[in-house]
Amino acid sequence: MKNMKKKGELHPSNPHKGKYNFKSLIKSSPELKGYLRKNPRGEDTIDFSDNNAVVLLNKALLKTYYNIDNWDIPKGFLCPPIPGRADYIHYIAQLIHGKNNNIRVLDIGTGANCIYPIIGSQSYRWDFVASDIDPKSIENAKKIVGANKNLKNKITLKLQKNRSNIFEGIIEEGDRFDLTMCNPPFHASLEEAINANKKKVDNLSKGNSKVKKGLNFGGQKAELWCPGGERLFLKKMVKESLKFSTQVTWFTSLVSNKDNIRPTKKLLEKLEAKDIKILEMSQGQKVSRVLAWTFKG
Ligand SMILES: C[S@@+](CC[C@H](N)C(=O)[O-])C[C@H]1O[C@@H](n2cnc3c(N)ncnc32)[C@H](O)[C@@H]1O
Repeated sequence: MKNMKKKGELHPSNPHKGKYNFKSLIKSSPELKGYLRKNPRGEDTIDFSDNNAVVLLNKALLKTYYNIDNWDIPKGFLCPPIPGRADYIHYIAQLIHGKNNNIRVLDIGTGANCIYPIIGSQSYRWDFVASDIDPKSIENAKKIVGANKNLKNKITLKLQKNRSNIFEGIIEEGDRFDLTMCNPPFHASLEEAINANKKKVDNLSKGNSKVKKGLNFGGQKAELWCPGGERLFLKKMVKESLKFSTQVTWFTSLVSNKDNIRPTKKLLEKLEAKDIKILEMSQGQKVSRVLAWTFKG
């Protein structure tokens, strides 16, 4: 697959490459101005451990790059870093060779933020079905879609009523999807999720005693964990995907823990997937990957 990016950089089609342009972001969202800080090099930044600042940055990015005027999330819900989420969209666009005509995508676990359908529909004009097991997330995502003219008729939200199902109950008879995508719950227990969140906040807020600890990225409730964590979620997704092998062209999932790639790939080989790809994404020091598979020859 053609990949002309340098190590540590976002996908070449990602509009968030390089540093945030706070001057233009403030123009579209003046509220962000009050949260600007200088970094040690004297450049504008925000305090990324401050939840309010990160939510305002997201509002500004969504307005500036995706024409989304009305976006918000309830307190305590996952506030997604937009550049990394956009990278997933641009990488899977390669699987369908950048096609944007009549493309249907299923986002499993869209969250209250509905971030992938927003970026995918505005970057490539894809149509989305998006699911979640959390009624509050679906309710908020519906609110976002209803409040933005350019999202109406592009995104359909569906509540997954059985939390042990992934595609079942969401993909209907006669449906077809070019792509499915998912950012799976990572942790295996609520306690593990809370501890990891605390560590992240501690790291981000080093030397800043004013930061309201534990609030920043939110999502510490059901959004970030499921029994068995990421590995079991992937296993379930792969097993269930076989049942929908003729209705979906490419199944994909983010895999945060690289140790989960091998067992998942092994299972896919056992199920005789026709093609399996690992798309490596990197942003600075952080590396993550998308696992993609198809049963179509
Ligand atoms: C890590 S969050 C991702 C949220 C959003 N897509 C993002 O990237 O910011 C995982 C989401 O999956 C949802 N979820 C967990 N199990 C699910 C299932 N079986 N079907 C659909 N969604 C599920 C959770 O409620 C949560 O919103």
